[in-house]
Parts: sequence; structure tokens; C-alpha cells
Amino acid sequence: MHDASFRGFASDNYSGVHHEVMAAVAAANGGHQVSYGGDVYTERLREVFRHHFGPEARTYPVLTGTGANVIALQAACDRWASVICAESAHLHVDECGAPEKVAGLKLLTVPTTDGKLTVEAIRREARGFDDEHRAQPQVVSLAQATELGTVYTPAEIRAITDFAHAHHMLVHLDGARLANAAAHLGLPLRAFTTDAGVDILSCGGTKNGMLLGEAVVILNPALDRGVDHLRKASMQLASKMRFISAQFLALLDGDLWLRNATHANTMATLLHDRIRDLPGLTVNYPVQANAVFVTLPELALAALHDQFHFYDWAGSHAQARWMTTFDTTPDDITSLTRAVETALTS
Ligand SMILES: Cc1ncc(COP(=O)(O)O)c(C=O)c1O
Repeated sequence: MHDASFRGFASDNYSGVHHEVMAAVAAANGGHQVSYGGDVYTERLREVFRHHFGPEARTYPVLTGTGANVIALQAACDRWASVICAESAHLHVDECGAPEKVAGLKLLTVPTTDGKLTVEAIRREARGFDDEHRAQPQVVSLAQATELGTVYTPAEIRAITDFAHAHHMLVHLDGARLANAAAHLGLPLRAFTTDAGVDILSCGGTKNGMLLGEAVVILNPALDRGVDHLRKASMQLASKMRFISAQFLALLDGDLWLRNATHANTMATLLHDRIRDLPGLTVNYPVQANAVFVTLPELALAALHDQFHFYDWAGSHAQARWMTTFDTTPDDITSLTRAVETALTS
């Protein structure tokens, strides 16, 4: 029913499903398997996650990234807790208040220059620990890659986890684009999660080429308490879980996760290289994952909106966000680049 030649830059979710993932879903079809995660695919997936994140990792596949975040935060928080995050965090701006509404948590947001929290920024809200009037900061939540397409180094994450732990807080990492971060860093997934002191992770699948599916991964075994109940009560328990697990296996039980993320990042870098010196255009953040944020004159922006789908970001009419994905082609980049050149000169 759709025009398969239509291309967009609005989201890495505009792409379809990677053909190897689709084949894995088909291969998992037929016959009967135990539902709700008692199947052989989910059993193998737990092993594969242990391979990537270390022997203590416990994995709970879920349906959406918002769901993964809300479950992970509930697993890490008391009912009187608050969560420190960047003011640009998906948790804060794009989850319709789910952490507040479903998990009953207060978000304490702090400004950043590039989407990345720092110890200095966290310190602004890491206070009032013995004040009964204050929702207690119990978790620091980071996104890797960030919503602004930037990537923390393992040392930056370690500085935050050390600070958080010293203040009796835990660290959650929103890894909707974890693979893109690994591809940028050239490091294994555990290097900037488990080995950097992260306690609990939302691991992305959808943006990396799956049809749907994410996972809550517990890295600090002390948090593995009641997460299966939290998942069900948060409406994130898939009965035919074998199909989510089979998709994740297609990505992670080999190198497809890295191939897809590397390609998406390479396309963003290509776009950046082609446009960064154009007069009238400013690139706003380092291009490290699969996003390019630019400021353009209003008229140029309007002309581009007539031709491509993309979002204006952060309430500003002049900042555009262009996302690339595993199936973005060099021709797509050329089309956008030419349109940008024309919009800026006409
Ligand atoms: C940083 C981040 N976290 C989580 C999500 C997951 O969102 P969803 O609930 O749409 O799967 C997204 C999707 O855009 C995201 O960018």
C-alpha cells in the first residue's frame, strides 16, 4: 500500500525491517513454543546478552523503548524517588510523562550543551538526600547515544557512575541507540555499560533494524527483583516473545547490530561532510552517531520541509534534525544535500 521509493530523515524508525531480521522472524514461525518467554529463542537470547554484557546480565525483552525506560526506572527506584536526567532526555520530552504517570517518579532535569550529562550538571540536583520534603534522587539516567547524536566516552560514563554511586544513586542508561554509540567508539557494548559501572540498561532493537522490540538489561544483580512483575504490570510483556527474541538474535548473535549501526553513522558523517561548509548553515553538535542537527534560515528550512520529512527540534523553528538509518543510501544523502544547497542559494 505504500510508495517504497519514499525516503525520509525524520527518524531512524522510518526505515523498515532489515531483511535478515525479517528472515529470522519467518524462521522462528511454525510449530508451538512456550509463550511469555519460555521459548528456546528467549533462552538463547539471555545467553547472547550475557556474552555482550557479562555473566551477571539479566535480560527482559519488552515492546517499546518508553516501556523499557519506565520498567528500568521502577526497578531501580523507591516510590519516593526522583531521577536526574538531561533536559533533552527522551524520558523527559518524548514519553508523554510516562515515567511520572506510570512509574510515579519525579524527573529532575538539568541543562546540557550537547545532550551529555556531566558530574557538574548532576551535582545541581544531587542534594537534599536527608530532606523529607524532597523527592529523593536515586537514579541518574543517561542516553547513549544521546538524543542530540553525541556519544559519551567510557571515561565520561565512569565519572558519572562513580559520582552517582558515591551519593548512593544508581545509573540507568537509555540505549535506544546503544549500537550507534558502540560503532562510533569502536568498542564492545560492555566497555561503556557494565565495565563503566552502569546498573541498568534499556537496550534498543527497533532503531537498529528490528520490526519492534527492546530489552531491559540488568547489570547490577541487586536490581533483579520483581522485574518480571513490573514488565507485566507495565503492559510490556509480549506473549509471543519468541518473535522479539528471534529478531534480537538476528542482530546480536553475530555482527548485524554493528553493521547496521556503522552504516547509519557513516551516512550521517557523509551528510555532515557534504553540508558543514555551506554558507548560511550551522551544524549544532558533533556528529558522532546517526543524527545531524543544523540551523538554517527559516525560508531554506521551509523549502526543505516541502521536499523531505524531518523534525524541527527543541521548539526552535530554525533547528532541523536529520536522522540516518541502516538503509539510508548515499543517493539519499545526495538528494538531501542538493536540496539543501538549492534552498540556501535560492
Ligand atoms: C533516546 C530514546 N529513548 C527511547 C526511545 C524509544 O521510544 P519508543 O517508546 O518510541 O520505542 C527513543 C525513540 O525515539 C529514543 O530516541
